[in-house]
Amino acid sequence: MRVTCVVNGERREADDVWPGESLLYVLRERLGLPGTKNACEQGECGSCSVLLDGELVCSCLVLGAQADGHEVVTVEGLADGDALHPVQQAFVDAGAVQCGFCTPGLVVAVTDLLARIPDPGDDEIREALSGNLCRCTGYAKIFDAVRLAAEHR
Ligand code: FES
Ligand code: FES
Repeated sequence: MRVTCVVNGERREADDVWPGESLLYVLRERLGLPGTKNACEQGECGSCSVLLDGELVCSCLVLGAQADGHEVVTVEGLADGDALHPVQQAFVDAGAVQCGFCTPGLVVAVTDLLARIPDPGDDEIREALSGNLCRCTGYAKIFDAVRLAAEHR
C-alpha cells in the first residue's frame, strides 16, 4: 500500500508498505529519516519516540498504515535549520549525551513534556520519561537537561 503523510511539515509518500510494517520502519527505511532509533521494537525503550498528530508514541508500535493521512514529527523536525531546538541544546549543555542512542527519543519526549507542562517538577519529569531507557547516563544529567530546557523556553 501507499502511505501518504506529512512528516516534519513536508508531504511524504512511501510505496509498497507492507500492512504489518511499523511506522518506525517506514520513517527509517523508506523515508530516509534515521534519527528515530530502533532498539527494542517492543515498546519498551522509547528510542523510537515520535509525535503522531501531536501525541507522543513509540513508532515501533504504530503501523505505517496508521500514519496515512496524519502528521508525524521526528527528531529531525525539531531543529530550525542549523540551530538546535532548545531541548537539543539543553542536552548538549547539560552533558546529557553519552552514546547518544537514547537521545533522539528523549529529546522528542522532553519536547512533548515541556509543551504540556512548561515547568515540570521532578516527579512529572520522572513520569514523563519513564518510557525512555538510557543505559549510560544514570539519568541525573538528563534531568539537568530538562530543567535547563524549561528555563530557556
Ligand atoms: S524501539 Fe520502540 S520502544 Fe524500543
Ligand atoms: S546515552 Fe547511551 S543509552 Fe542513553
